[in-house]
Amino acid sequence: MIKLTELKKSYHKKNVRQDILKGINLTVEEGELVAVKGRSGAGKSTLLYILGGLEQPTSGSYHFYNSNITNFNQKELAAWRKENIGFILQNFTLIEEKNVFDNVALPLLYANKSKGEIESKVISLLEQLELEDKAYQYPRELSGGQAQRVAIARALINEPKLILADEPTGSLDEETEKVILNIFKKINQEGKTFILVTHDETVSSICERVIEIKNGYSDEF
Ligand SMILES: Nc1ncnc2c1ncn2[C@@H]1O[C@H](COP(=O)(O)OP(=O)(O)OP(=O)(O)O)[C@@H](O)[C@H]1O
Ligand SMILES: [Mg+2]
Repeated sequence: MIKLTELKKSYHKKNVRQDILKGINLTVEEGELVAVKGRSGAGKSTLLYILGGLEQPTSGSYHFYNSNITNFNQKELAAWRKENIGFILQNFTLIEEKNVFDNVALPLLYANKSKGEIESKVISLLEQLELEDKAYQYPRELSGGQAQRVAIARALINEPKLILADEPTGSLDEETEKVILNIFKKINQEGKTFILVTHDETVSSICERVIEIKNGYSDEF
């Protein structure tokens, strides 16, 4: 499904080149659950952004099935992302002015789905995540764990092939973390591919594969 070959990413700051990723080689098959770990600043989020098409690598290639993503222009990239990628970001951003239902429905609205289809999909996903009784509450009226589950619902509603999560349980207590991890496991067992960045041993222990980014290179355990 995913093949990264000699993938590199550098940033320029005041004419100084910073090499963040120096040669990442990684293959991920459909249906895998992969953890990415590494020290703060190692380049984990950078790698996730590249995988999600939010950043382009400086060099190397990224194949997603038969497409070389590195050849896509901005428009192609946006269309590809909308169809294939679900993002759960480090600071999950719900829209404060919209209630839970509308936050989750947003990707379907962009995709021009009918009102009936949106209604049934959103309600069924909220039920799965045990959020159905929160559908008409606003983000500020939710606990951290509930808000995190809403962000997860929004990432899943379009049925993306690849789900990318950046420290998805970073700010949660142990109980809530367990609930979220069980949801991930379940979604993964339904055939979705998951790549998640984490510092947490509990999280990486549920993953079949653990990749570490160190000094710009990837290692597998
Ligand atoms: N847009 C950018 N411009 C310049 N430098 C950047 C940019 N994005 C990231 N960096 C730098 O790249 C390095 C890797 O950042 P990244 O966010 O990928 O780290 P990380 O492994 O996710 O760390 P953390 O665990 O703290 O989230 C950092 O030194 C960061 O300052
Ligand atoms: Mg990060």
